[in-house]
Order: sequence, then structure tokens, then C-alpha cells
Amino acid sequence: MKALILAGGSGTRLYPVTMAVNKHFLPIYNKPMIYYSLSLVFLAKIREIIIVVNPEDEKNFKQLLGCGEELGVNIEYKVQYEPKGLADGVKLCEDLIKEQPILMVLGDNVLFGHGLTELLTETKREIEKEGGSFIFGYYVKDPSRFGIIEFDKNGRVLSVEEKPNNPKSHYAAIGVYFFDEKVVDFAKKIRPSNRGEYEITSVLEEYLRIGKLRAKVLGRGFAWFDAGTHDSFLEAGEFVATIEKKTGLMIGCIEEIAYRNGWIDKKQLLKMAERFEKTEYGKYLFRIAEEG
Ligand code: G1P
Repeated sequence: MKALILAGGSGTRLYPVTMAVNKHFLPIYNKPMIYYSLSLVFLAKIREIIIVVNPEDEKNFKQLLGCGEELGVNIEYKVQYEPKGLADGVKLCEDLIKEQPILMVLGDNVLFGHGLTELLTETKREIEKEGGSFIFGYYVKDPSRFGIIEFDKNGRVLSVEEKPNNPKSHYAAIGVYFFDEKVVDFAKKIRPSNRGEYEITSVLEEYLRIGKLRAKVLGRGFAWFDAGTHDSFLEAGEFVATIEKKTGLMIGCIEEIAYRNGWIDKKQLLKMAERFEKTEYGKYLFRIAEEG
């Protein structure tokens, strides 16, 4: 399975902050936003990664993450010249996805909770075995802001609607999606929505139509943020700061996960720690390396 991280888009909901800088480089407490979506991919044990970026940001992404070699992964970049929606990002990557199932993560999502690694690796296995797609529902106060999942009483998905005026439930589809290899064909088939974008919910509707859309609800033990507005951006940062200060353990630390996954050795971790040695982040990496 490959991973696809969507990190393009215009970020207008964070204006004027994102007039001159792409939101995925902004700090969620002590690390760039993109680290959090990357960490989900790492936790799912996926090492082949495609990142969809705006043309003006490709250079900066490469400066930050390179081709992934230092982290023991392979990162390829795909430029999205116009912000035509999430499903357009999938379509663009047809040549890189190469008829494989994918884990797709939106670059502004922050997800934390007990059993997250197992949830991701088990869902990955299910998709590899049975095909179809999997999404995750999270109860939200303001459903009109998200793609909303309607369930029947047995937990089966009845509908998915993008930012509905009259939401049928409070369950938002978070920005983490597992798809089988049919995803590219579906992304090519759908038509743009009223706001002119190729919506990911339209792709989900295609899976629903063939009876292959399943959803798992993330319970109260999870915290999910899409850091795409001023408030949710701040909330995500405050949450990460609170948990990290309390436990002394980091959320979204990609170097740590790469090390614990056995993708890089102690020497490589120390090399990266040295680069950040003036910060608590660097000291943390030293600690992880010493603890083994
Ligand atoms: C996107 C999706 C939406 C999903 C949300 C989660 O919305 O279109 O279905 O619920 O991400 O973060 P966006 O934030 O791009 O408006």
C-alpha cells in the first residue's frame, strides 16, 4: 500500500496567515503541521509516500523532508497547479499510485488516541485483503463544516454529504481514508460540485454505490482536529502542548516513529537530533536514542 498526503490547496480559511506561507509548514506547537499527517502514515507502517503540493511550495517541502531517505522512507512529490479539490489530487497521482490501494491523509489533520497504531494497521490489512474503502467518523458540534456520514442502526453507511446545510448526523468523515485500487477510476469519473471542486465525498459516494464503503466511528478516546481554521489550528496546538508537557512524550514525532519502526538506526536518529540540538525537539530525539 502507498500513502497519499494532500498538502496543496489555497488555505483561504487561514488568511491572512497563509497569504505568503503554505499552512502545512505552520507550527502545531513545536513541529510543522505536515508532520502530523506524515506520522499517521508512519504509524500505518507505509514507506512509499506521495505528497501533493502547490507549485510554489515544492521547493520548501523538499527542503523540509527531502526524498524521505533520512527517515527511511521514499517520498515523491506531485504538483497540483490549480486547487481543484481533493479528488483531483488523487486523479493527478494516477501514474504514481500504480493501481495500488492507498491510505490518503489530508495534510491539515491531527489525530491522537489510544490504539491508533492498531486501528491503522488493522484497517490497512482489511483493505489489502477485502478491497473497498474505509473512512472514520468523529462526532462534531458543527457538522456543516465537514463531509458528514449518515449511519443506519447497524452502523452501515447510508450517505455521505459534503458540508451539508441540513446535516443528517454529527459524524464528520475525518481526513484519513483507505481506498483500494479503484480510487483513481472513481476520481476520474466524478463531476465537480456546485463550488467547482472535485470532492472526496463524491468518490465516497461511488464506493457506497457499489456497496464498498465502510466506516468506523472513533469514540471519545480520540482527539481529532482539522487545523484549517484559526480556531481549530490554535486548539490543535494547545492540545499537543498540553499532552506533551504532561507525559513527556511527543505526538507526531516522525523521527521517533521511524526509529521505533526500525526504519532508521540509532546513529541516524542521533544525526537528526544534532540538527535540532538547540531545541526541546532535538533533546527529545537524544533521549529517545539513549533510551533505546
Ligand atoms: C475536507 C473534506 C471533508 C472532510 C474534511 C476533514 O474538507 O472535503 O469531507 O470532512 O476535509 O478534515 P476541507 O477541510 O478540505 O474543506
